[in-house]
Amino acid sequence: MSRVYNFSAGPAVLPEEVLREAAEEMMDYKGSGMSVMEMSHRSKVYDTIIKEAEADLRELMEIPDNYKVLFLQGGASQQFAMIPMNLFKNRVGDYVVTGQWAKKAYQEAKLYGTANAVASSADKTFSYIPDVSDLPISDDADYVYICENNTIYGTKFKNLPNTKGKNLVADLSSCFLSEPVDVSKYGLIFAGAQKNVGPAGVVIVIIREDLITEDVLPETPTMLRYKIHDDAESLYNTPPAYGIYICGKVFKWLKKRGGLSAMKEFNEKKAAILYDFLDQSKMFSGTVAKEDRSLMNAPFVTGNDELDALFVKEARAAGFENLKGHRSVGGMRASIYNAMPMEGVEALVAFMKDFEAKNTK
Ligand SMILES: Cc1ncc(COP(=O)(O)O)c(C=O)c1O
Repeated sequence: MSRVYNFSAGPAVLPEEVLREAAEEMMDYKGSGMSVMEMSHRSKVYDTIIKEAEADLRELMEIPDNYKVLFLQGGASQQFAMIPMNLFKNRVGDYVVTGQWAKKAYQEAKLYGTANAVASSADKTFSYIPDVSDLPISDDADYVYICENNTIYGTKFKNLPNTKGKNLVADLSSCFLSEPVDVSKYGLIFAGAQKNVGPAGVVIVIIREDLITEDVLPETPTMLRYKIHDDAESLYNTPPAYGIYICGKVFKWLKKRGGLSAMKEFNEKKAAILYDFLDQSKMFSGTVAKEDRSLMNAPFVTGNDELDALFVKEARAAGFENLKGHRSVGGMRASIYNAMPMEGVEALVAFMKDFEAKNTK
């Protein structure tokens, strides 16, 4: 068996330990005589899996009791619609547009009411996080929306916006569980699983209880109502059962590694190896404002498209996969989620140094 260093932005690298455990349990989960993929989501054994996953997530994130955890389907993109459908009372949402994912959420909200772009970094290809300390928040805004870590551009909010009393809604897909967060500062957090926690399709929603109501837009389908899923404890219909099982294993892996403070320290050290190299390299450079750099997604360029392409090709041949930047921005991007080991980034930087030496006259 040979595994590559996988720098994909998502679906992304998962902890090897988790994959091995899942492989061992594939044919016979804990004496049940079947795979988790084959068992009823209403069985006792599955009930333990989903309940433990929730309990472990609550412990990791120190989720206050007045917040609900929902394991839903439809990926993160489904939330772009569910959020306005469920939270619009005045049909007004204020959006901070810091990249394509925030923009998609903003455009989706427009289908249901008024979405205001209260700040944007589109003027510089989303290479920075705008000042969010004094936004023109609408008096009747139902919430303020951010995409906290911008997967494509490699920026991250280091300070949350001053929402002037409005509920904060945040897409944490690509920074979920990479560091501690104060859940009480948010009305709703959501994250697609396929970056830091598990297989694609699962989306985790953490929502303050009072935001779960029956007072939703009348056209909201049953399946898109938070209340339906909350009342049924994420088992209204067949959930993405196997995906949730893997998420649960990742939560246990994170607990064993010391939880989110330990992850933050690890991620900071790991990202610094790459960023420190980029800052002194004469060939490679980072593409975003230093103070807004993401710990999870690091885009970089050589400034020469042909050299970029050569780098991606040679890196691939050397066992470094998925380093090509997003199709909308070009260059390279190394996604270095929780499960990317320190050695992966060290090896990448050694390879970059070598490439620079070989290609510098
Ligand atoms: C920040 C962010 N939000 C939303 C999405 C969309 O997720 P999904 O494909 O699960 O709908 C992604 C990406 O893949 C993302 O990076």
